[in-house]
Amino acid sequence: MKKIVVLVSGGGTNLQALIDAQHRGEIPGGEITCVISSKPGVYALERAAKAGIPSRVIDRKEYADSKAFSGALLEALQEEQADLVIYAGFMTIVDEMVSRAFPYKMMNVHPSLIPSFCGKGYYGLHVHEAVLKSGVKVTGATVHFVTEVCDGGPIILQQPVFVQNDDTPETLQKRVMEQAEWKILPKAAALFCAGKIKVENGIAKVYE
Ligand code: GAR
Repeated sequence: MKKIVVLVSGGGTNLQALIDAQHRGEIPGGEITCVISSKPGVYALERAAKAGIPSRVIDRKEYADSKAFSGALLEALQEEQADLVIYAGFMTIVDEMVSRAFPYKMMNVHPSLIPSFCGKGYYGLHVHEAVLKSGVKVTGATVHFVTEVCDGGPIILQQPVFVQNDDTPETLQKRVMEQAEWKILPKAAALFCAGKIKVENGIAKVYE
């Protein structure tokens, strides 16, 4: 059974999607063994507690810089013996020492179709604001492996979502979550735990 550690910073709806999928038996090869938050008091921690999953807080504000925070995070991940680390609305910049320690063992969910609307500054609602401003008609979500390049690691799964004329950033965010993120994130975790994702020459291939 692979140990899954989920990293959060906020509301944790993607964490909830993972917990629900686990309860439905949809991630048979893995188990969420720990939730780590970069902020104290966030609702994601309550979701973990309700599901009986141990959690830890590594408060970004208590560390002088990203390197010091990343060192503490890395130590925690090693203590937890994580086989898979999932960024689920984890909004903290992490030093490359962390992704290097878990090559192709960390995945992130991003609320757009990478390589559009991603990289520095594109997170949360900002992504959907930029999508609406650009006038594109299709957006979606991406699950990818985490590397030292921000939002640049091998893409595992993507799910498109249509933009509607009357969308606001909030309505679009909700639809992208419901129709894309909450589906492809648990699916990617299940595929990983079943050994069905291989990275060849920097490209992730899924063998279902
Ligand atoms: C989600 O939409 C997630 O894709 C996004 O933040 C939201 C967190 O919601 N992540 C990023 O923008 C990362 N670049 P949640 O806490 O309810 O899962």
